[in-house]
Amino acid sequence: MSTTADTYANAFTQMLGIELPVICGAMYPCSNAELVAAASEAGGIGIVQPISLTYVFGYDYREGLRRIRELTAKPIGVNMLVEGSNATYRKRLEEWMDVSLDEGVRFFVTALGNPRWVVDLAKQVDGVVFHDVTNVKHAQKALDNGVDGFICVNNRAGGHAGEFTPQQLFDEIAPLGKPTVCAGGVGGHEHLREALDIGYLGVQLGTRFIASKEASVHDDYKDAILAAKATDIVLTDKISGVPVAVINTPYVERMGLKAGWLAKKMLRGRKTKHWMRTYYAIMSAIKLKKANHRGSGYGDFFQAGKSVESIDEVLSVADIFAELCPQ
Ligand SMILES: Cc1cc2nc3c(=O)[nH]c(=O)nc-3n(C[C@H](O)[C@H](O)[C@H](O)COP(=O)(O)O)c2cc1C
Repeated sequence: MSTTADTYANAFTQMLGIELPVICGAMYPCSNAELVAAASEAGGIGIVQPISLTYVFGYDYREGLRRIRELTAKPIGVNMLVEGSNATYRKRLEEWMDVSLDEGVRFFVTALGNPRWVVDLAKQVDGVVFHDVTNVKHAQKALDNGVDGFICVNNRAGGHAGEFTPQQLFDEIAPLGKPTVCAGGVGGHEHLREALDIGYLGVQLGTRFIASKEASVHDDYKDAILAAKATDIVLTDKISGVPVAVINTPYVERMGLKAGWLAKKMLRGRKTKHWMRTYYAIMSAIKLKKANHRGSGYGDFFQAGKSVESIDEVLSVADIFAELCPQ
């Protein structure tokens, strides 16, 4: 008799040694250890966000990975935001990479910069590296630097959204000949089916998993996702200097969606752009950590993608998987 894993088995699930082609994407500041573990335990793969694990949830990095290991023996992945402008941050990233490999992690999702050094280390242990991309130019660069596949972030995604539809992005990136995963807008089985029909080998979800029982964000955040429609999602460049999808709340409206002229000027300069991004990163880290974990009253600043439209119940991660991947 065939199993659910047989129904969904493909080159991507085989590459990662998982049962279902579903990634619970890394989320700053929402990726708590229990959420990551539950996604892997359900047959997909949970991705650790190292800054969340350490700064938001207070773990020593190795202890955090071990906490996840207590909850599941199945494969997990780690997110490496390889923006390499700051020496202290780069050193921290290298430490996280070493510990991850040491603790048996073999799947890495890189984003924002050149993934070469992560690829070089991962390859020494037959690891797999997928890079987050929003266009073919970045995908080609990542391919030249040795990545094994692409997470194609479309214009429906939560977090840093892309510009293209899932179909447009697939048409641009599939010719590079590597496995592709669709990130953005997937809230249930119908969306997963659409992505697989386009030719993607898997999906990466963020927003759907925030509205799960295992996510430890404040209930106000989960309620905001249940209440929101796709039309409530707006892009703001006030978090990191590049467009981030958030739910349009009175707080967001008051704050405005566009970076001011000075910030914009600095974001264009070769050197000042790094200072500006660091400033944004620190400010948003503090703001998001407060808003997402203390709820309303701390500024209703909730990152989410357009899949909110199809999310109307807080479910356990196992139930989300059962709905996503029926037999
Ligand atoms: C709150 C939030 C935080 C995110 N943080 C990160 C991150 O730190 N690193 C990353 O590579 N992607 C991040 N993402 C993107 C997700 O991993 C995933 O690609 C995206 O959420 C998929 O779109 P969806 O929300 O429509 O499912 C984030 C997304 C959200 C919603």
